[in-house]
Amino acid sequence: MSTVIANGTVVTAEATFSADVRIDGGVISAVGRDLGGPGDTVIDATGRHVLPGGVDVHTHLAMPSFGTETCDDFSTGHLAAAMGGTTSHIDFCIQPHGASLRSALDLWHAKAAGRALIDYGFHVAVTDPRPEVIDEITTLPELGVTSIKLFLAYRGTLQVDDAALFSCLERARDSGVLTMVHAENGDAIEHLMAGAIRRGETAPKYHALTRPPQLESEATGRAAALAEVLGAPLYVVHVSCRGALERIRDVQSRGAPVTAETCTHYLFFTKDDLDRDGFEGAKWVCSPPFREAADHEALWAALRDGSLSIVSTDHCPFQYGTQKVLGRGDFTRIPNGVPGIEERMMVLHHAGVNGGRITLQQFVSLTATAPARRFGLGGVKGSVTVGSDADLVLWDLTRDHTITAATNHGAIDYSLYEGMHVRGVPVTTLRRGEVIVDGGRLIAAPGTGQFLQRRT
Ligand code: URP
Ligand code: ZN
Ligand code: ZN
Repeated sequence: MSTVIANGTVVTAEATFSADVRIDGGVISAVGRDLGGPGDTVIDATGRHVLPGGVDVHTHLAMPSFGTETCDDFSTGHLAAAMGGTTSHIDFCIQPHGASLRSALDLWHAKAAGRALIDYGFHVAVTDPRPEVIDEITTLPELGVTSIKLFLAYRGTLQVDDAALFSCLERARDSGVLTMVHAENGDAIEHLMAGAIRRGETAPKYHALTRPPQLESEATGRAAALAEVLGAPLYVVHVSCRGALERIRDVQSRGAPVTAETCTHYLFFTKDDLDRDGFEGAKWVCSPPFREAADHEALWAALRDGSLSIVSTDHCPFQYGTQKVLGRGDFTRIPNGVPGIEERMMVLHHAGVNGGRITLQQFVSLTATAPARRFGLGGVKGSVTVGSDADLVLWDLTRDHTITAATNHGAIDYSLYEGMHVRGVPVTTLRRGEVIVDGGRLIAAPGTGQFLQRRT
């Protein structure tokens, strides 16, 4: 039996037009006029825009960190994602020290099993780059994993040195694997943090002050240079500042295969948010930290000119009441990370499209088409085109919504966007042709989300 989304306005990265979308076996089989026939299930999309479901390539669900674990798992995180119009994501599987990459992936598969509502893939974060682990990178594509991440910060837990970065870039290049990098200079940050604590500077705002933008720019330039020397593809995650953008543009201008993302929150907040009353600022603690208003406009400009091609969430939620408070009296113990998987599409659409900063087509590209293509899911996810999975979101561009933690759906007890008014919301979400959310109601059953085998 076929499903037809009738009378909507289809938006792709390239065009916006009135059309029906026909779905057979979970896949888009036709896009065109008057596709409904007898016996079809027809979903009327009159007055709605039909967008590809969001693809969020940067999330941390059920991730151990700072002696605790991110509060959304693969059920609550997926519920929040689906409610916000996101239908697939790629989560970071973190290699425990001493473990193989294969066993780390087994751990992450177990986290998702029986819970998933949307489709999911994994990147592997290589944290213990022993020679046999670097050798293992070549085997990842067979496991459907075609990207790794290296951290140049978080000394003592996640950080790797330049020798490891260089070796991994080379091996990944030769294996068709994309290397992602968290670019901050962890050694200098460690030094600044220790000094701050010695001086009794323990409040959340010192998190931002001990991670200045120069240390992100430096690490970005360093990683980009190493990748350029090797001709290895590199993806810089969570770019937050002007200096890092300059370094990225520099190597891009010479044709180096370096791409980059920013995350939703870097378009909205500044380091002053970490100085909110009392300990509230801890809600805004993430790495890299928030910068200045001038960086927001620079990031928007980069999204328009393509030097940044993706907006992801870095959804890394820690409850304020039980987890962020672990760092009361010592900002270095505040779990790093902020939530955003539910809000990404709505706030980016509102500030970006309604705000006149990007077009609706650019919005589709940034949130779905480009991330799918960059991460080995082109032609499968992220586009309303024939042959793609029917992951679709029906948007009502005229509907108003006020974002509050109380009406959000994840396990997190706050929203960075609390009280923000948006116009334009996802009303109906389809995953592989099945309605999984309709009018704020979840319909998908746990365990129906599928693992995404990605291409090199
Ligand atoms: O503060 C953040 N971003 N936490 C998540 C881990 C990472 O660095 O992406
Ligand atoms: Zn990171
Ligand atoms: Zn992250």
